[in-house]
Amino acid sequence: MAKNGSISSSVIKRLPRYYRFLGELKKQGVDRISSRELSALMKLTASQIRQDLNCFGGFGQQGYGYHVDELHGEIGKILGVDKHFKTILIGAGNLGRAIATHINFETRGCRLIGIFDINPDIIGKSVGNLQIRHVDEIEDFCRENSPAVAVLCIPKATTQEIADKLVSLGLKAFWNFSHYDLSIEYENIVVENVHLGDSLLTLTYGANIIDNSD
Ligand code: NAI
Repeated sequence: MAKNGSISSSVIKRLPRYYRFLGELKKQGVDRISSRELSALMKLTASQIRQDLNCFGGFGQQGYGYHVDELHGEIGKILGVDKHFKTILIGAGNLGRAIATHINFETRGCRLIGIFDINPDIIGKSVGNLQIRHVDEIEDFCRENSPAVAVLCIPKATTQEIADKLVSLGLKAFWNFSHYDLSIEYENIVVENVHLGDSLLTLTYGANIIDNSD
C-alpha cells in the first residue's frame, strides 16, 4: 500500500498526469511499460518517474517496468478515485453548466448529486440528468445526502459566505472557480482554487520569452 502521508505537493500535482497517461495506455491494451518508454511519452526523465513513484512505495520491477493496469489502479487509489465522493455544484451559470456537463466526475472520484443556484428563472431546469435546485434547499439537501465536495462557480463576492456555510454543513473539499482565492481557516478542509487565466499567463510568459529572443 502506498505511503502517501508527507509527499511533496509537486509530486502530488504530477499524479493526475500519470493517471491520465496510464489510463490511455490501458485503453490501448498496453500491459506493461518501462520507465524509459513512459518517460519518452510523458516528457519526464526516467529518474524523475522512478523518484515520483518511489514516494509511494515503488510499483516497478527491475527488468519488467511497470504493470500498467496495476499502476493505474494504485495511483487511482492514492488520488481517491475509487471513493465516489458525493459532490454538489453551486452556481449554474455559463461556467457551472459547462463543468456539470463536460467534466466526467465519475472517473475522477466524484459523483455529482446536486446543482444549486439563486436565479428563479433557472430553478427546475435540467443540467444533464439533474434539476437545478434553489440554494435555499441546500441545508436540507446536505443533511439528507452528506456531500463531501463542492464545486463553486458563483460570483466572487458570495464565495466566502457560501463556503463558510458549506463547511458548517460538513463539506470537506472545494473546487473553487470563483476568482476568489478561498482560504478556509478550518482544519481538514481542502481547497483547489482554479484560475484558467493563470494558465494563459503561463503561456504568455513563454510566448514573451520567445518574442524577446527573436
Ligand atoms: P454566470 O453569471 O453565468 O453564473 C453565475 C451563477 O451563479 C448565476 O447563475 C447566478 O445566479 C449564480 N449565483 C449568484 N449568487 C449565487 C448564490 N449566492 N448562490 C447560488 N448561486 C448564485 O457566470 P459564469 O460565467 O458562469 O462565472 C461564474 C464565476 O466563475 C464568476 O465568478 C466568474 O468570474 C468565474 N470564472 C472563473 C474562471 C476560472 O478560470 N476560475 C473562468 C470563468 C469564470
